[in-house]
This record gives sequence, C-alpha cells and structure tokens, in this order.
Amino acid sequence: MSTAINEANVRLDQFFTVAEARQDRWRRLLTVARAWEAAGKQDASGAVTDKKRSSVVNSFSELRQWESFFAYPGPALLKTIEGRITQGDATGTARLIQSISAALLSHSYRTNAADWGSPDIFTGSISDKLPIASNGNMPQRPYFEVLIATAAFPSTWPGFREEFRKLRRSQDQFFYETVFVGSFEDAVLGTILNGSLEAVIISEGIPFASVNNSPLLREFLSTHLAATGIGTDFSELSLSLAQALKLVRPELDIYLLSDREVEKVAGDPGAECFRRIFYQVEEPLELHLSILDGVADRFSTPFFDNLQKYAQRPIGTFHALPVARGKSIFKSNWISDMGRFYGVNLFLAESSATTGGLDSLLEPTGNIKVAQELAARAFGADHVFFVTNGTSTSNKMVEQALLAPGDIMLVDRNCHKSHHYGAVLAGALPLYVEAYPLTKFSMYGAVPLRTIKRALLDLKAEGKLDRAKMLVLTNCTFDGQIYNVERVMEECLAIKPDLIFLWDEAWFGFARWSPFYRRRTAMGAAAVLEKKFKDPAYRAAYAEQEKKFGADLDPADESLLETRLLANPGKVRLRVYQTNSTHKSMSALRQGSMVLVKDQDYHTVEEQFHEAVFTHASTSPNQQIIASLDVARRQMELEGYELVNRAIQLALDLRREVNSHRLISKYFHILGADEMIPADFRNSGFVDYITPGANWAKAVKALREDEFALDVTRLTLVCGTAGYDGTQFKNMLAAKYDIQLNKTSRNSVLLQTNINNTRSDVAHLIKVLVEISQEIEKRLEQGGSEERDTFAARVKSLMEDVPDLPDFSYFHDSLRENPASITSEGDMRAGFFGAYRQEQCEHLKLSSPEIDRRIKEGPALVSANFVIPYPPGFPIMVPGQVITSDTIDFMRKLDVKEIHGFSAALGLKLLKPSFLEAAGGREVRRLSKEKGTIKKQAA
Ligand SMILES: Cc1ncc(COP(=O)(O)O)c(C=O)c1O
Repeated sequence: MSTAINEANVRLDQFFTVAEARQDRWRRLLTVARAWEAAGKQDASGAVTDKKRSSVVNSFSELRQWESFFAYPGPALLKTIEGRITQGDATGTARLIQSISAALLSHSYRTNAADWGSPDIFTGSISDKLPIASNGNMPQRPYFEVLIATAAFPSTWPGFREEFRKLRRSQDQFFYETVFVGSFEDAVLGTILNGSLEAVIISEGIPFASVNNSPLLREFLSTHLAATGIGTDFSELSLSLAQALKLVRPELDIYLLSDREVEKVAGDPGAECFRRIFYQVEEPLELHLSILDGVADRFSTPFFDNLQKYAQRPIGTFHALPVARGKSIFKSNWISDMGRFYGVNLFLAESSATTGGLDSLLEPTGNIKVAQELAARAFGADHVFFVTNGTSTSNKMVEQALLAPGDIMLVDRNCHKSHHYGAVLAGALPLYVEAYPLTKFSMYGAVPLRTIKRALLDLKAEGKLDRAKMLVLTNCTFDGQIYNVERVMEECLAIKPDLIFLWDEAWFGFARWSPFYRRRTAMGAAAVLEKKFKDPAYRAAYAEQEKKFGADLDPADESLLETRLLANPGKVRLRVYQTNSTHKSMSALRQGSMVLVKDQDYHTVEEQFHEAVFTHASTSPNQQIIASLDVARRQMELEGYELVNRAIQLALDLRREVNSHRLISKYFHILGADEMIPADFRNSGFVDYITPGANWAKAVKALREDEFALDVTRLTLVCGTAGYDGTQFKNMLAAKYDIQLNKTSRNSVLLQTNINNTRSDVAHLIKVLVEISQEIEKRLEQGGSEERDTFAARVKSLMEDVPDLPDFSYFHDSLRENPASITSEGDMRAGFFGAYRQEQCEHLKLSSPEIDRRIKEGPALVSANFVIPYPPGFPIMVPGQVITSDTIDFMRKLDVKEIHGFSAALGLKLLKPSFLEAAGGREVRRLSKEKGTIKKQAA
C-alpha cells in the first residue's frame, strides 16, 4: 500500500494534539469504508467500487503509519482489516473499523475484551484468568500502555508481547499492554503521540533513525525535538533517549535494559532519569512488578486514601463539627435533603480531628506531608504547601513570609488584588511596573522586560537595590499573555543576583503538563536556569559579558536595556515561588491552591514561611479540599499530558470555527496572538496559531523565543462588534443559554477551555453563536435603517469610544521617603491604615466640580482605598495614590455597575490633606532609616 499523505490538509493543531487527530483519521477511514460498502451494493460494473476501495486503501495506509505507536487496536486487528480490504470484503472492513473507532472514542477497549477480538486479552497466564472490568465486587483496574524501545527484530515483537501478558497476576493493581518501537526517533514519536503511556523500557543498542520515512512524521518529530529542547548529542543513545523523553513527559517511568556492566551504568549521574536499570531481561517478573510499582507510586494519594479509610471506620466524635458523620443531617426532620443531595461519604469523611489517620495542614507530619512531597515531585518543586483558601491566600502567605516592612516589591499594577493587600499586610513598598495596554479592548497585557530592567536599574542608581526583594508577575495573565519566564529571571538576576520571584500562576498550573508551555512556567524555567548556571559554556559567556560591562553593571548605561543580560553564575541565588489555583485548571475543589517553592535559600526563610502559614491558614481546613489537591496531582501525573493536549485542541477548534464561520465571524471574533501581543514582543514574527500558513515550526519558535506568547486556551471573544458589552453578553449567555464564562471587558468576554471540556461543549457554543448572529441579522434586516444606525452607533461606542486606561500615577509625597526619587515606590500601608480614622478622610462626588478644581489647583486628591472596577478588574486607585485627571476621566466614562471600594452615593473616599501633612513621610523615613537607605544616600 502506498503512503499517500495529503500534507496540505495537515493543520498546525494536528501537531499539537494528537488524540483528536487520531479519532478524525479513524472517522475518515470509516466514511470511505462505508462508501465502499454502499457502492458494492449498487455498482454493477465494479468501476465505482474499485475507486472507493482504493480510497479505503489510501486512507488506511495513511492511518496505519500512526497506529504503530498504540497498543490498541494493535498489529493483529490492523492485519485483519488489511486482509479484509485485500479480499474485497467491504462489509467486514466497515464493521471492524466501526467497532474499533467506537472503542477508541469511548475508551471501552480499556475494559472490554471483545474490542480486542480476543477473549484472552485481559487474562494473565492462562491459569489466572481475571477480567479487569468491574464485576461488582472488584474495582476496575486502570489500563495503561508501556512503550518498549528495542533493537530486536520486529518479527520477535509479538513473542515479547505475549511474554509480558503472561506475567499478569490476579493481584495486579493495574493492567497494561505493550507497544514496540525499533529506534530512538520512533520512541520519541511514540511518547509524544500516545498519551496512555505510563512507562518506557529502553534496551541498549537501539539505532537512532526510524525506518519510517513518512515526511509527515519526520516533520512532526523534528519540530517536537526542537520544541522540547532535546539535544543531538547521541553518543550515549539510551541515556539521551531517556533524557529526551523526560523533556516531553517528566512523570514517565523509564527503565533501562543494559547488556553492559549495569553497576557502572547505574553509577552515571545522568542515569537519574531511569527508575531502574536491569541487566537485560534477566528478571522479567521484577520488571513487570517495577512497572506496576512505578504507576502505583503516582496513583497513590496518601491523604485521600486515608480519608477514605477514615470514613469507613465507626468513629464517635466529641469534637466540634456536628456535620461530621452526618447524623444531625440524616436524622433531621428538616435538612435531610442536604444529606441526600451530597451523599453520605461527604459527612463520613468530615472531621475536625488531626489524628486517627488524618493529619494537620498547619503542621503536617503524616499523610498531608507525604501528599505535599508527591505534589512537589509532580510540579518539579522542592517544597509544596497545600492551601485551602485559594490563591488569594497563597499569595499573601508568600508575600508575608518573604517581605518585611520597608522592603520594595516590584509588582504588576494589574495583578490580582491579593498582591496589593499582601503589600499592605507585609508593609512592603510596592513599586508598580506597568503592563502594556490593549486600550482598544479595555485591558492590559503583561509587563515588558525592559520596564522591569529599567526599574531595577533605577533602584540601583538610587542605592536602593538591596531593598528590592521581590518581583511579582502574573503568568499567564488573566487574558492569556505568557511571559518568557526564563529570560525575565535571568536578566533580572543579572542586575540583582538574589531577587526573589513570585510567579502568580493562578491560571497556569496545568501548563506543567504541556511540553510546550512547561518551559514558560516558574518551575520549568527555574529547572532550565539551574542547569544553565552550572554549564561551563554559560560561565564562559558570562565572563565575556563581564569584560564588556564589568562585574557591577552601571545603571546609567542605557545599552543594558537593549542587551540580553546574563546572570553571574558565581553569585546568583535562584529563589523562585509559584502559586497556582489548582481548582482553576485541575480537578481540585474550589479554593484548592498550592504554593510551589524552588528556593536555594529556603532554609533561611523556612521559619518565617511557617509563620505565614500559621497567619493565613484556617485552623479548620476543609478535608475535602486537601483530598482533592492530592487527587488532582494524581490525575495530572497520570493523564495530565493527554488532558492538557485536549484542552489546547478544543481551544484551537473554537478559535478556527468562530473566526472562519461565515455568519459568526460577521459579528464575533476571537483575538489572535497578533492582537493580544504587540509585534515588538513577537520577534520571531509569529502571527497566530490559526492564521493561514501558520506552521508548527513557527509556533514552536515563538513559544521558545518571543517575549510574550499567547495561551491558546484563554480566548478573548470580541462581542462589541455584535453590539453587546462584555457584561451584557456574559449575562445573556448565562441566562438564556446556560453558558458560563470567565471575565469580561468593555467589548469582549473571556472564554476558557480546560481539562473538563469536550467537543460537545464547543459545538454547543458554536450553535449558540450562530443563533445569536442569526437574530442580529434578522433584527437588522427587519428593523430598517433606523435599527441599522442604532446598531452601528452602539458598535462604534463599544469599539471606538473606549476610555484610555490610566497608568499608575504616583504615591503622595508624604508617603515617599524621598519625593525626588526616580523610583515610584511608596508606603501604601500608611495610606491604607490612615483611612481607618473617619476624621482623616473626606468624600467627593465623582461629578463634583470640586474634583476638577482640586486637580488643577490642589491640594492633591489622594485615594484612601483601593478602587477596583469589574471589568477591567485592576485597581485604578490604591491607598495613598494621587488621583490625576486621567483616572477621573476613566472613572467618569466607566459604565460598569460593580466598582469595589467606590460608592456612587458617597463619592470618592480621599485622605484629607491635613492627615497627609501630618504623616509627612514619617513612616517611610523611619523604615528607610532602619534599612539604612537614607544613611547611604546621605553618604
Ligand atoms: C492572577 C490571579 N491570582 C490569584 C487569584 C486568586 O485565586 P483564588 O480564586 O484561587 O483565590 C486570581 C483569581 O481570579 C487571579 O486571577
């Protein structure tokens, strides 16, 4: 059969997400097989039938090259299909394809022997027959696949496969099938393509090149190799392969079968990526047990497992928490419906105890501690803290732990409110760095690295760099801009070698499981930098830089802003923190959040970190949230790769469908990377994922190099062009179509795909958008010119008459230690608490002319509190900030109802000039004196 591939049809996303593309191939094959069957029934001459048959031949050969990387349907069933096609059995071919395709779609092959066409498939040695499917008494045994990369002739593979099957035992916790490949390249391909893999066995002596010459697979492979940074030093092939596979999926267990001195191989530091090393297959049962053990290790959820056991025990409770065990609920005359709704387990699993198989979240020593260690392994962190009050709390914990009063915290003004409050609580002075505006869509992007470098160099020029403790950035931003995390940290460390980074990855926790996004996460980038700083080549490059710029960078040297700076590897301290709302992108219950730590100086802050946990964590943490964090980690370690790929696929589908749909695209549009990220920050020249001509290599390059990339799963749908403002559109979708979505802006709404979404969800949304577009069409057609004019005016108002976004102005002089300073940090805390005394505050109505007069003539208007309109959701005023005409203009144009910190009836809450005069910078001066800055400046 020929390997005819229509490369023109291969879309970029086929490279991104393979599961859906695979299903599409089976569906296409089924369609042509059915057409062949139908033609055979009517076609007397046979000419049409022949043509249809050759379509089946082509479609089958296209599909087959991909199928060798999956255990199901496997070589035997594929051979049966081939035989039926050769024999001209159209009906038999169509039936078999139909059943395989259905089994793949429903995943029934994981539990149903009939799908394999072999009743013995799920049995162990013939004497030990045991179905894996649930039989009522026994829970279902999860299924996975194991990739075996071997130099043995393919003719021997079926025999090996049988050998592995014979090792199965009734007490095995899981069930697996094997997939064989014969080269390095095919092993990489298999790992990328097959999301059901949980383990890989590499035998030494495998060749590098695949015998598979398909240009499609070759392109797929080379771009993935580039994307994941897999090297080309293949002197030690098995080791290189293991390292390469770890870059794709770090969670995979990899085993080496060596025929050399295994003791020596095991002693190689690079061998840490192998879970175990065996001397050839001298102990097949050991290998089998190791494979199961490796998966059991990830499957294990110490806290959740114990909670389940706890729930089954007859426990008498004499502690607070009447709902524990549920008796007050199930026996109640009035609230037993609550028990019926939630089910008994919720109450059996509730306790306020920290003993009896449970643990204490505040001082974990048992299964919570182990669960956190497993999470640290999964996320590539040194330590993980589970948090049960959301990332709002995680952020405040990290900030309190690492910042002291008077420290300077560089922070995106557009960040989540928890950081602003974190600064108030810690008494740190925020130095706001501005994100680039996307005025047209009434939202901000992310903070350019140049702005951050500028701020650090300014601090240096003023002798305050030692007080700049932390940089806080949101990655990705609410709207999907992803930082080049590695570069940001590297260049900042070049200016301040011990700067601490807090990456708020509230929305981006899932990214760890995408090989493309991982490098742009805090933990992924920290791992890259850790390696880089130890690399002699990096040291040499740094030495060159030092020759040019000196060891102590001169803050007046403007060329530093243009230079890609290297950090001094001899001085640098890598101190990285990440917070993520596990509940936002993984299967944790609401408020489930984690703090990830990769800080080489953690031991110096451990005590204060625990203090911060004690300060913020509830003493009654919810057991179910802790358990769900444990389970979410299990899921991501076992199927995160496949699920995240699917979420990305669905996002791409949605983007393409909306933007190319004849009717929908007249009124709606999803913003691409080019609209969300100015060209200056896309040096690779990348436009967007769905632009015609976009190819995978370009997308990969952009993800590696550009200053910002777009997370495709965050979709900004412009609805202003359909005459709806964001809030109106969001409410309509919820009320009329049961569609809930994320945030809104003046003229857009933010949609998000995650691991929970299906193709049906996408179909539903598309159908709704068609319906809404049809209604608009009808209204415009029937309403005559008046209706059309009204519509055009509304669209213009939403899309063009957009208020300029106000930048942060400055803190009032009295809250700054040196009003002449070029850096803008200020004592927000003094402003915040100043407002606690009514007599120190005043109110002015937004429409009052007094506001305009004071802006012109003074005394300055100084905000007493945070004012946060939703949308856009960032504080347009913070305590102590001087209010300028920009801010007032923005407020006056704002037509949103929800503005936190502002009462239209009372007006703006301001700090009185008398208070500010009295404050006179006292507090800041005291702090800066304590920190020695004033002394230094005087000197
Ligand atoms: C960037 C960012 N950080 C932190 C949070 C707070 O997270 P949580 O809702 O888990 O408290 C949010 C919430 O939307 C957010 O957008």
